[in-house]
Amino acid sequence: MKVFKTKTEIDYAIKLLKSDNITIGLVPTMGALHVGHLSLIKRGLKENDIVVVSIFVNPTQFDNTDDLAKYPRTIARDIELLKIVSTDKILVYTPSVEDIYGNDVLASKFDFDGLEFEMEGRFRNGHFDGVGTIVKRFFEIVKPNKAYFGEKDFQQLQIIKKLVVKHQLPVIVVGCEIYRDSNGLAMSSRNERLSLQYRQEAPFIYKTLQTAKSKFGTKSANKVSEWVTREFAKNKILNLEYFSIAETETLKPAGRKSNKKKYRAFIAVYAGEIRLIDNLALN
Ligand code: PAF
Repeated sequence: MKVFKTKTEIDYAIKLLKSDNITIGLVPTMGALHVGHLSLIKRGLKENDIVVVSIFVNPTQFDNTDDLAKYPRTIARDIELLKIVSTDKILVYTPSVEDIYGNDVLASKFDFDGLEFEMEGRFRNGHFDGVGTIVKRFFEIVKPNKAYFGEKDFQQLQIIKKLVVKHQLPVIVVGCEIYRDSNGLAMSSRNERLSLQYRQEAPFIYKTLQTAKSKFGTKSANKVSEWVTREFAKNKILNLEYFSIAETETLKPAGRKSNKKKYRAFIAVYAGEIRLIDNLALN
C-alpha cells in the first residue's frame, strides 16, 4: 500500500493517475478508522478506479486544545485496516501539519450562507472555517472526481456541498448513511475514548432521537425539544449540549411544520469530556 507523507509526493502520483484518466475517490478522515470509514472507502472503490484516504488531525477545526491533544492517533493500525480492504486500490495521504499549513496554522474565513452559524457553529468557534480550509485544500491536492462524507456530521456535509458550489470545485460530494453499532450508537473515532460506563449509556442518544422522531409526528418541534431536555435532565451520566429540530436544507430551527419541508433532529451530548453528535431524518 502506498503511503504519501508530503504534498510533493502525492502531487506527482496524482498527475500520473490523471494523465491515465484514472478516476479518483477521496475519503478525508482524521484517522482512528472504524467500520463507518471503511464503508465510505468501499463505496468509493465501487464508484472510482482508486480511493485516496487522507488521515490528518486538522488543528484548525478544533476550538479546544485538550480535545485536539487527546484525539486518537492510531496510524499504524489504520494502515493495517486499510490493507484488509485493498492493498493496490487505496492510496494513503498522511501529511504533517507543516506540509499542509507551512508556518501559519490558520484557517481561511468562509461564508456558507449561514449554515455555519447553526448548531455546531454555535458551540464550536471557528470549526467550519477549519473544516472548509482543509477540505478545500485536499480537493485541490487530490483532485478527486468524487469525495465521500458520512451523514453523522450532517451539518459538515451540507457545508461541504455549499463549499463546492460557491467555489466551483470540480468534485461530486457524496453523503453516506450513518453507520451504527448494533446498539444504535453512531460510529465515531471519539467512541474509542469512552469508558465502559459511558459506552453502555451512550445508546440512550439514538434511542431518544428515535422517540423524538415518533413524537414529531403529532407534536411541535418545541414540544419535542422540551421533552428531550427533560429526558436528559433525568439522565445522571450524559449531559445534553443541544437538541434541535431543523430544516434539512437550511439547518434553521423548524418553525411551523410544513408537509413540503424535510426535517432532521440534531443532538450533541457530553459523555464525561467526550463530545458525541448524532442526527436522524424525521420525514
Ligand atoms: O469529518 C472529519 O473527520 C473531518 O472533519 C474531515 C472532513 C476529515 C476534515 O478534517
